[in-house]
Amino acid sequence: MTIEERGNASLLTHALARDTLSRIRDVSTSQVSFRKGLVKLGRIAGYEIIDGAMETEYVPVETPLTEMTGERVTGMDDVVIINVLRAATPFVEGLLKAFPRARQGVISAGRDEEAGMDDDGEFPITIDYVKLPTIREEDTVIVADPMLATGSTMCVVLDHVLNDQPKPADLFVLSAVSAPDGLIRVGEQFPEADLLTVAIDDYLDENGYIVPGLGDAGDRAFGTG
Ligand code: URA
Repeated sequence: MTIEERGNASLLTHALARDTLSRIRDVSTSQVSFRKGLVKLGRIAGYEIIDGAMETEYVPVETPLTEMTGERVTGMDDVVIINVLRAATPFVEGLLKAFPRARQGVISAGRDEEAGMDDDGEFPITIDYVKLPTIREEDTVIVADPMLATGSTMCVVLDHVLNDQPKPADLFVLSAVSAPDGLIRVGEQFPEADLLTVAIDDYLDENGYIVPGLGDAGDRAFGTG
């Protein structure tokens, strides 16, 4: 397993995840390669979650030659993936390769940069659309957002996801790049969440961007901005 504990977060240290993240950080990476990189990161993260957090059971298998005992991952029908629009869309596409039968939720949430920062140096969070599946006690819930910056969007998203729902068996907040501030904030407000990330970067700049980061993940994936 290539997950390492780091403070209140866990790092996905798979070499291919580090390789892929380094490629998409590069400012010269094209939109297509950036989007494909996020898909790949989602797939690797999904496999790592399976390896690190899910159980297998023994099953009888009849090969063309004989009978043997094989293994199956259990709980694959009890997975919920929450897509925090819009940058998480390619990330979720990758996760779905690992969890093809996951139920999916969508939340359109983000910083209202036009409104400017408030007195605490935060952008207000706007929620435009929420459609969530019912969560069951046996579920593994993965809330995906490639960039965990201040954590303010993620906290609002988690409030919506957990509100009036049974507590899931496992709750993962999955990102590609995190800022220390975001990990601390989400970790303090949602101690039940496992924070998984490929990299913990240095700091947030005055516009709330993660440094060194990779820029605006949504704009780079969608070719906007
Ligand atoms: N969202 C992004 O897309 N990039 C950042 O650096 C921070 C938030």
